[in-house]
Amino acid sequence: MKTGFVGWRGMVGSVLMDRMRAENDFADIEPVFFTTSNVGGAAPAVASGLPPLKDAYSIDDLKQLDVIVTCQGGDYTNEVFPKLRAAGWNGYWIDAASSLRMDKDAIIVLDPVNNDVIKNGIANGVKNYIGGNCTVSLMLMGLGALFREGLVDWVTSMTYQAASGAGAQNMRELISQMGTLHKSVAEQLADPKSAILEIDRIIAETMRGDELPKANFGHPLAGSLLPYIDKQWETGQSKEEWKGQAETNKILGRSGNPIPVDGLCVRIGAMRCHSQALTIKLNKDVPIADIEALIANSNEWAKVVPNDRESSLRDLTPTAVTGTLSIPVGRLRKMNMGPQYISAFTVGDQLLWGAAEPLRRMLRILKE
Ligand code: HSE
Repeated sequence: MKTGFVGWRGMVGSVLMDRMRAENDFADIEPVFFTTSNVGGAAPAVASGLPPLKDAYSIDDLKQLDVIVTCQGGDYTNEVFPKLRAAGWNGYWIDAASSLRMDKDAIIVLDPVNNDVIKNGIANGVKNYIGGNCTVSLMLMGLGALFREGLVDWVTSMTYQAASGAGAQNMRELISQMGTLHKSVAEQLADPKSAILEIDRIIAETMRGDELPKANFGHPLAGSLLPYIDKQWETGQSKEEWKGQAETNKILGRSGNPIPVDGLCVRIGAMRCHSQALTIKLNKDVPIADIEALIANSNEWAKVVPNDRESSLRDLTPTAVTGTLSIPVGRLRKMNMGPQYISAFTVGDQLLWGAAEPLRRMLRILKE
């Protein structure tokens, strides 16, 4: 299977390369690496005897491939994909960008949740397999079983999204903001007798001032939060919030009969783990123990965290999850609104299950 890789050097692409190396995914494919800036340069050392880097805009070179995996971003997809199909290319296109996600000719890949939808797509000749929005994928990795069992009337998801979702530069900026804040009060902090309200005043002044680096976020994130992610839409939803319902139902193969999903998406100062607090309205009174069993048995990565203080603070945080494939789901309990209303909190690494992992698994599925 001649497989082309585009955008393998960026953040998501690098995570994808690491995961593919760790899982020995390069062993039985013929990888060809593409570039937008360094044609003829050396391919990464994932196998021996690889050809030099090819031009990611060369339709002739791309046309030779059975599969293309791209993490290059939406602009690249918008430019190259239509030309490639127009040139008669009929291979598989696996893409991390959102450009083609909602196309009727595309399937959103998250195989632990929608393997049946993917398998059906392959059988029916679908050629475009697109990674989902990270927040949606992470929610479904944790709670997909409740949807699959037909238990869900509606869901609200209030998110706590990490800097990495905005990009690599934003992760750096978050840390730089933290450093600037610390520096502004380092002297007072070192003196245990200094007045806390003076420290607080200087921090607020620094956050509102010009020294704080904010070229990427446009606003202070460290010590604060950003209650709006992605574009503003006329409905009052942000684009990120719109994806919740649209993509969840598409992943589940039920766009024609959608389950309402809505909530507010908020950026917080975590590095690469998105968290979400969910309110789920069930269509019947299901005991919490049964809900826990459904979640725990839904896939090998979803883990139920007992709803106690110590377990939650230890296992249900970005700190605990970052860099791992684990999807803890906790704070599961019935809410005051009635026995059909449950709360949940879940955390996931948005570069792994939120981006790279579904793509490498899709490649595996094509090899089967
Ligand atoms: N839109 C997401 C975010 C990133 O801004 O966190 C990945 O889907």
